[in-house]
Amino acid sequence: MSRVKSLVFLQDFSRLKASLPDALRSGLPAKGYFWAGLFLLAALIAQQSSGWQWTMLTGLQGDKTYKLATGFGLLAFVLHQWRFSVQRAQGEKRNAATMMSYHKLFGALLPLAFLSHSQILGYGYLEILSLTLLLAFLSGLFNFQIGQIHTPWYRPVWISAHVGLSMALLLLMAYHVYINYAFK
Ligand code: HEM
Ligand code: HEM
Repeated sequence: MSRVKSLVFLQDFSRLKASLPDALRSGLPAKGYFWAGLFLLAALIAQQSSGWQWTMLTGLQGDKTYKLATGFGLLAFVLHQWRFSVQRAQGEKRNAATMMSYHKLFGALLPLAFLSHSQILGYGYLEILSLTLLLAFLSGLFNFQIGQIHTPWYRPVWISAHVGLSMALLLLMAYHVYINYAFK
């Protein structure tokens, strides 16, 4: 039984592998948010690996009030991303398409919101928080609507990863705010 299951899994996997190039060729030009998001991610990776910092921004980020403001900005950003899910769960159907496109558009700009708050990933739990944010973003970019990824397991696996990361993000953010302010 488990042999059959793993065979099905392998078949699904090779079908996914085969359908990704198709997806990249056909569906994407219309999906500007995907390319915008990928470009910003590449820029962020280049910035992180070279260690380059924008001096003016580093100056601003030394200021606690600026940190607080951009921190709240990030919080608003993530809550906005969640709003779509909450409203849909409440049965809101009329604006679902508009909300979805805002979800994707705002989501794709997330690396900019992150950089405005911090130019480093941080250490320890901060690194986990930053990576969780970036993984939620990355999983969002590779959503099942992006192309012709028709394998049956892709959607449930994708949604679990995307929503799981988004939940972890809320917890880690709450911890971050607590650590920053509870003892001061
Ligand atoms: C996904 C959300 C967030 C991420 C990924 C994040 C990430 C970070 C990182 C990596 C640092 C260290 C940066 C450095 O040392 O230069 C930091 C510092 C800070 N964050 Fe956040 N943050 C988030 C949300 C928030 C929120 C919601 C607030 C408050 C409302 C906040 C307030 C601060 C403050 C005040 C500092 C400075 C701490 C210090 O200098 O001791 N952050 N954040
Ligand atoms: C930190 C950033 C993000 C958070 C917190 C977040 C959160 C969520 C949540 C909670 C859902 C579940 C909605 C539901 O099924 O009710 C969802 C679905 C979705 N998200 Fe995100 N998201 C983020 C970024 C992105 C990005 C960057 C994209 C794409 C560019 C994206 C695309 C999608 C898509 C396509 C769905 C599925 C809608 C469906 O089930 O039909 N998300 N997101």
